Amino acid sequence: MDNIVLIGFMGTGKSTVGQHLSERLELEFVDSDEVIEERAGREISSIFAEYGEEYFRDLETEVITDLSRQQRLVISTGGGVVLRQENIEQLRKKGTIILLTAEPEVILDRVKDSDRPLLEVPEPLEKIKEMLADRREYYDITEYKIDTSQMSVAEVVAEIEKIIS
Ligand code: S3P
Repeated sequence: MDNIVLIGFMGTGKSTVGQHLSERLELEFVDSDEVIEERAGREISSIFAEYGEEYFRDLETEVITDLSRQQRLVISTGGGVVLRQENIEQLRKKGTIILLTAEPEVILDRVKDSDRPLLEVPEPLEKIKEMLADRREYYDITEYKIDTSQMSVAEVVAEIEKIIS
């Protein structure tokens, strides 16, 4: 079975949905951000602060390349994984890519108490809107899209099960 790859902006539900989906399908769940943190031995925010975004993106590409060689995984990716075309090419080889989306206000509500270095700015809602606009084309790489704004986790999981059935 192919991997199921969840892409999308921060706060669209990739990790939560991915965990539930993996349990339903009895597949292994992997969060690429967690693998990056394990390999680097530090948190994402500290990687950004110490070494900058490019270094983080290099680590991300290494992890994505490794995960893309495996099978039967549910992979939750970081929101910026789409910024490098090579990541997408790797993920596509053995994976069905599903885009999760959400309204900017919903995203802010979901991420406001979490550690997202790119959103640590005075006007996070404006930043979210700006980043979504900048990334719109990058996310537009799959026919499978689910707006999770008004959906429960169980509903999103059911929707993904329909897609892959
Ligand atoms: C990022 C999203 C984060 C994490 C890093 C950069 C982004 O992942 O990879 O902070 O560029 O959108 P989540 O989407 O899991 O929050």
